Amino acid sequence: MNILIVYYSMYGHVFQLAKAVEEGARSVAGADVMLRRVQEFDVVDKIIDDDEDASKVREQQKNIPVCTLDDLRKADGVIFGTPTRYGNMTAQMKQLIDSTGSLWMKGELEGKPAGLFTSTASTHGGQETTLFTMMAPLLHLGMIIVGVPYSVPGMLHTEGRGGTPYGASTIAGGEGELTPKPEDLEIARALGRRVTEITKKLRG
Ligand SMILES: Cc1cc2nc3c(=O)[nH]c(=O)nc-3n(C[C@H](O)[C@H](O)[C@H](O)COP(=O)(O)O)c2cc1C
Repeated sequence: MNILIVYYSMYGHVFQLAKAVEEGARSVAGADVMLRRVQEFDVVDKIIDDDEDASKVREQQKNIPVCTLDDLRKADGVIFGTPTRYGNMTAQMKQLIDSTGSLWMKGELEGKPAGLFTSTASTHGGQETTLFTMMAPLLHLGMIIVGVPYSVPGMLHTEGRGGTPYGASTIAGGEGELTPKPEDLEIARALGRRVTEITKKLRG
C-alpha cells in the first residue's frame, strides 16, 4: 500500500507538519510512504535567493524528490499540505493539482482517500477556508476526503494553535516566528495514521 505525502513549504512550518504526517503514516503496518515536495516556480526561486530564512528551508528540503504525476498514480492514499495564501492553497500546489488532467480523464485518483494540512500566519488567517477550498478539486478527481475526528486528543480546544476537523494545521506567526505546538504535530501524526488506516481498509 503506497501512501503519498505531498506538500509545499517556503518557511518550514508545513514541512514540519509533513514530517509528523509521515511518522503517523509509517506507524501503520504495510505502509510504503513517499514524502514529496511540490515543484517551486522559477520566479519564486529567484526571490528565495535573497531571503535568508527561506533559503535555509529550501536547503533542508533539497533531497526530498519533487512530486510527479506517477507518484500520484502509484499512491493508494494521498495527504496534501500547503501554506495559506489569502485564505487559499498556494499557486504551486494548485499548479500540481491543475496538471492532473490526464489522471482525471482515466479516473486514476478515484476512490483514493485524501487528507489535508495547512499553516497560516494568524489564528483566523484562513485555515478552514484553505482546507475546504482544497477539497473541491479533490472531489472532482473522485478522492474520498478524510478529516480529523474530535476523538483525537487535543482537538477540542480554545488555544492559539492548530487542529481542525478539516485537516491538521499550525500557526506560523506574522514573521514565521512560531513553531508547531506539540499538539499540532500530534494531530498531524493522527491524520497520517488515519488516512493510511482508511486506505488499508478500503484496499481490503
Ligand atoms: C502571498 C501570501 C499570502 C498569505 N496569505 C495569508 C493568509 O491569508 N492568512 C494567513 O494567516 N497567512 C497568510 N500568509 C502567511 C503564510 O500562510 C505563512 O507564511 C505560512 O503559513 C508559512 O508556512 P511555511 O512555513 O510552510 O511556508 C500569506 C503569505 C504570503 C506570502
